[in-house]
This record gives sequence, C-alpha cells and structure tokens, in this order.
Amino acid sequence: MLNLTPILRQDQPTSHVKIGESKLGNASDVVEIRHKNRSAHFLVKPVDDGPLAGETIGNKVRMHRNVAELFGGIDSSRDFRVDPNASVHDVVECDAVKIHAGGNGPEKLESFLRSTNYLLHPFEEVVKQGDSLATFTAATVEPAGYTTVRVTADTDIEFIGAGELRELKATESSRSRGGGGPTHGGGPGGGQQVAEDEAVEVNLEPKKPTVSFEEDVAGLPEVKQTARMLLALFDAETRNEVERRYGQAFASRGSSMMLYGPPGCGKTLVSEAIAHEAMYNTSIEDNYGPVKFLEVRGSDILSKYSGESEKRVSAVFEKAHGIAQEGFCVLFFDEVETLIPDRGDDSLQRHERSLTNAFLQEMNDVEDNLLVIGATNMPFTIDPAATRRFPIQQFIPQPDETVMAEVWRKQLDSLSTANEIDYERLGEASVGYTPAEVADRILGSEFQRELVESVIDGDPIVPDTDYLLEKLAASEPKTVRQYVASVREKTDDLEGYPEMQRYVEAQADRLGMRLGTEPSALESLLGAGGGDAVGDDGAAGEGGQNGDAAPDGGAGDAAADGPAGDGATGDGAGGDAV
Ligand SMILES: Nc1ncnc2c1ncn2[C@@H]1O[C@H](COP(=O)(O)OP(=O)(O)O)[C@@H](O)[C@H]1O
Ligand SMILES: [Mg+2]
Repeated sequence: MLNLTPILRQDQPTSHVKIGESKLGNASDVVEIRHKNRSAHFLVKPVDDGPLAGETIGNKVRMHRNVAELFGGIDSSRDFRVDPNASVHDVVECDAVKIHAGGNGPEKLESFLRSTNYLLHPFEEVVKQGDSLATFTAATVEPAGYTTVRVTADTDIEFIGAGELRELKATESSRSRGGGGPTHGGGPGGGQQVAEDEAVEVNLEPKKPTVSFEEDVAGLPEVKQTARMLLALFDAETRNEVERRYGQAFASRGSSMMLYGPPGCGKTLVSEAIAHEAMYNTSIEDNYGPVKFLEVRGSDILSKYSGESEKRVSAVFEKAHGIAQEGFCVLFFDEVETLIPDRGDDSLQRHERSLTNAFLQEMNDVEDNLLVIGATNMPFTIDPAATRRFPIQQFIPQPDETVMAEVWRKQLDSLSTANEIDYERLGEASVGYTPAEVADRILGSEFQRELVESVIDGDPIVPDTDYLLEKLAASEPKTVRQYVASVREKTDDLEGYPEMQRYVEAQADRLGMRLGTEPSALESLLGAGGGDAVGDDGAAGEGGQNGDAAPDGGAGDAAADGPAGDGATGDGAGGDAV
C-alpha cells in the first residue's frame, strides 16, 4: 500500500511512529527503523515512557496504519531496531498536487491518498490497488521544495495527462533551484500562527467516575446494553470465544462510540457511567491495568490561534496514549462536534478544516486499550468521515414519563420521605422536560437553599408529591423548545440520523413549531428571524411524545406555550449549549 521500495534517506520520512522519549535519546524528529530486513525513515512522536531498552524497542510501537504495509506486515516475533540519529525534517501538509496516474483509476487513487494521509514524494511511487501494484508520479506539489508532503482531505488533487507531465518536468529542470527549499514545516501560513515548536499546555487530569448505570442512570436500556457489549469485547476471553463461535467480524469491536441526542438527557452522564462500568464491573483492569477516565470539552480545546487547537487535540491524545500504555483509558470528548466540523461546510475557515483533519488523524491511531467516546447534540454538523471513526453510534433519547419517574426517584432517594412520594405522578407531569431540567434546575441550588433555610427557620419543609408538582409547574420546560428551534432549519441535515429526525419532528409537532427554512406568515410578520421559537397556540397538549399516547401533563406545558422569548442557543437548564 505504500512505497514498496524503501525510502532513501534523503527522501524521509515515510510516516510517523510513536516511541518512548527515553528511547529516542536527544529529541530527534526522525528515526530510522529497521524491521524484517527493511529500513525506512519516520517522523517520530515522542511519548513518555519507561527506561531505555537498548536500541530494540519491541513491538509496542504505535505506527500510522500504512507503516505495517511498508514492512510487509508486522512480525510480532521480531523487534524493531531504531536509529535515532537520522536528520530532521518536518512533514508539511500538501495544499495542491498534480498527479500523473498513468492508466490507474484516478478516483480510487485519490480516495486512497486522502484516507491514508499519504506521504507523497516527488518521484514515482507505488501503491497497492486491489491485488496489483499501481504507479503514479507526483509532478508538482504545493508548497514546492519539499521532498515529503502529506496529502490530506484538504489537498487539491489534479490529475494530468502524460503530455502535461512531460512539459512540467521540462520547465522544472530548466528553472534554477535557488535556495534549496524550505527545511522546516510551517510554510507561509496566513493569520495568527503558533510557532511550530511552541509547547501547548493541556491541564488535564484523569477524573474518578462517580456515577454508575445502576445507581444514577434512569432508563436507556439499549444504551446500557451497547456499552456492556462494547466493554465485554475488551475482555480477551470473551472476545476469543465470540470469534471462535461466530467469526472475526462479530468479535472485532469498534474502539470508539458516539453518543448523540438532545441536550440534558444523559450523554455526559452515560459516558462517565461507562468509565465506571469499565473500572468496576469488567475484567479490564485485570487485563490491562488501571482504568482512567479523561474528560475533555471540545470548547475547552478551541483556540483562536490557528494551529493551536490542533496541538491541543494531539496533546490530549498523547495524554490518553500515556495512560493507555500503563492501563486502560476512557477518553471522553464532550461537545465533540466543535472538534470535527464538516469540512464540506462552505462557511468553515481553513483552520477549522485542519482541526477536523487533525482529530480524525488521531482517531486513526487508537490502540487497543483506549476507548474514545464522543458526545454531541449536533451530530449533523460533524464531518461525515467521523462516522467511520466512531463506528458505534448511539442515540440518547429524551425519556418518556416512566423514565422521568425514575429520574425523580433517583434524584430524591436520599430524602427521608423518599418512599412516600408518588413518582408516577411526577413522571406524568414531567413530559416535555429533560432530566437535566429536573435534576439541575427544579431540584438545583434554589431548591437546596429553600430546604436549608427551612431547617434554619426551625420549620423544615417536607417535600411531598404536591410540593414537588408545584415546583415543577413553576418552571417552564425550555430546553427542548430551544433545541428544536436551533435545529429546525437543518431538517435536511438530519437525514443521516433518522432517530434524531423522528425525535425533532415529534417534538416540533408537540410544541406546534414549524420545521424547515421557510418562516410561517405569522413569523415573518413578527419579524422573528434568527430561529427564535414562536409558540403557536392551539397545539398544546396534542399528540403524544414519541408516539406515546399519554397526554401532556398539567400546568407546566400550558405555561410553556406562550410566545417563547428564548434565544435559540442558550440552555436555561445550565446544561449544554445547543
Ligand atoms: N437518563 C438519566 N437518568 C438520570 N438522570 C439524568 C439522565 N439524563 C440526565 N440526567 C440528569 O441531568 C444531568 C445532565 O445530564 P447530561 O448527562 O449532562 O446531559 P447531556 O450530556 O445529554 O446534555 C445529569 O447530571 C443528571 O443529573
Ligand atoms: Mg453533556
């Protein structure tokens, strides 16, 4: 799949590998690696690691996928040998390239080059296409002057004929090659750019997961089962047996999972519970070592400096790889859509596209003992390639009344009067609210203050069913309305997420909101642009939620159906911004 002839030293490197810092000696960016009578040069990513083990590094080296091909597969019984004293070159991203593909299918070649982040050299190259080898020639590359450039999804690839190739070669050789070309990456980037070697800080410490499926997560049986299945396949014994009985396809796990759904319905909660489950209810610790949970919010990684966000992304992955090396890491990206925006979106800036590239590139490199979970309210804004990197996609729905009853029960189980509360009634009255609205808003800090004050005043409140129903009625359900308002113009984009689409349609219907880009006549008259939800009257209480026949409960809904002055983006419940 890659250059089958070993790359000459001056044409390094082929791709990147990751090796423990201590094994590299004095921070060299490039090493020569020998394996199975073949040697090649690589760009190295140093990772924190144990003591030096001579110059053999075993087989615990992380490599770009195409590297295995270079060595004709990895032979686990034979070590890699490393020469860290190779000279230094950075690999730059290729902006544009002209390729002469001879008789080989340009489309196939193009998609191969992009999907592998292929390292291109300006000479004839050989790649595998199906069972045969195909050659092609890179006639010109942009930026010029590099011996190795990386083809990314952003690279403009133009295929040229043999005639044009000859012409280009001719002009190339007649032009004087003053200056010898750039030696380092970076290149003439516009805008604010971080220095290539400037260190980026990520203050990220593993967190102890404190919530569990059993105790804290109401409903979501399907999600729990998916998570258990995923974790079970990290157990060698289980995996082997599945493979023996049913074959490799059923045993090969996706090592990553995407949770998507409306805000406030448990994505963050479930992610932490998965880490908890991995830690306490599986044999993962016995197999791999200590489980650690790293939680990162997409918005914490974003930076206005071009290049900086990418560095933070890779710093986060580095941290996770470090943890995985000693045990098992559950790496959780909340608001993951901010890190992998759809590169096909015309409104994106160039650096946003390269952020997506950087993230997806890291996702190619995920080892066995690293489970990546992403969560998003806006799955339809993420890059389509991300769906391949997160093979398990799990919808987290808004709970129905039975599950809402369960949410109340879990929230209130510490009350001394917990057993006297009618949870079914609370559940019925909570249709249209998200669990987060109940947990964080209705039973939030204000509620706590009232309870504490009542104790101070010597007249402790007894929060019985009626008291709680009153609290509920006093607080409008806002999250779902805001959410539907914010996605109402994106109904076409929702098509890839049918559960989400059905959910949004059902909610819009329940709330009497219109979907699609065209504002209603009334909305135009009121000048309600910008996605503000204007509640129609009349529709209140009609239609069940998610096809559920239960009529909407009581006072809460009536209050919500006036014209909503909510912005389309803020989340009143203090949960995720949508
Ligand atoms: N399925 C659920 N069961 C119990 N509580 C829930 C559930 N979903 C959400 N909550 C409550 O709402 C809070 C916020 O939910 P969160 O997981 O942050 O939602 P999301 O990530 O989907 O926006 C949680 O901390 C929890 O108290
Ligand atoms: Mg969340």
